[in-house]
Amino acid sequence: MVVANQKGGVGKTTSTVNLAAALAQLGQRVLVVDLDPQGNASTALGVEHRRGVPSTYDALVDGQPLAEVVTVCPDLPNLSVVPATIDLAGAEIELVSVVAREGRLRRAIHGHPQVGSADALGEDRFDYVFIDCPPSLGLLTLNALVAGEEMMIPIQTEYYALEGLSQLLETVDMVRAHLNPDLSVSTILLTMVDARTRLSAGVADEVRQHFGDQVLKTAIPRSVRVSEAPSYAQTVMTYDPGSPGALSYFEAAREIAMKGARP
Ligand SMILES: Nc1ncnc2c1ncn2[C@@H]1O[C@H](COP(=O)(O)OP(=O)(O)O)[C@@H](O)[C@H]1O
Ligand SMILES: [Mg+2]
Repeated sequence: MVVANQKGGVGKTTSTVNLAAALAQLGQRVLVVDLDPQGNASTALGVEHRRGVPSTYDALVDGQPLAEVVTVCPDLPNLSVVPATIDLAGAEIELVSVVAREGRLRRAIHGHPQVGSADALGEDRFDYVFIDCPPSLGLLTLNALVAGEEMMIPIQTEYYALEGLSQLLETVDMVRAHLNPDLSVSTILLTMVDARTRLSAGVADEVRQHFGDQVLKTAIPRSVRVSEAPSYAQTVMTYDPGSPGALSYFEAAREIAMKGARP
């Protein structure tokens, strides 16, 4: 599941870590690949990401096996993480001269012994792999789109929400035509919904009209506990499981799990 939107601050990282945590709490085995040099997902999941820590960069640029750079989220044993260090900022440029530069992440992920079909791997495999993308449409995000089967676009319900979306969807079409025919935009998640404003509701309606069933029924409300959790190196799912944000992410995770269970 590639979590992408080239706009910053729309809730990509927050949604990635909380959905991953919720699915792990539901008993699923989950891997989060932090693909943003800022390393915000790594912070929220409580894993080290200072320079020198084995990271996404090593797998992507140096071809180190993913299994060697994976670590486990301290709060949730079912949740594994590939942290991102600031080195990843250079990868965007370093990858330009590398062969098959768009396919590096796909190779790395598919090379992991716990990634594959249930038939081949049984109990031990990851049920979900999430990739948290940086806020741009460069080579890093392109690598994610080539690696994934599904894509989730978080949309913040505010005035400029739909701006840039057509460019994002054109990029997806391009990737599907030339690099990854299996990619589908399976999931759209409305984030930071403010029930008190008419604008927020209006944007939500517009997105639902345009995208229909792709939009999860559950929307994520703006909630201060959600934004506090990362400063305690936690997801809101462990920081305050009864808060409205956590309950919504739990519900959204159930929807995703139900979709995945369809034949
Ligand atoms: N539901 C929410 N309620 C309150 N704050 C939120 C919520 N979702 C995200 N935020 C905050 O909004 C900011 C941007 O979210 P983030 O997930 O980092 O976006 P992105 O990864 O798309 O840049 C962060 O400070 C985050 O804590
Ligand atoms: Mg982010």
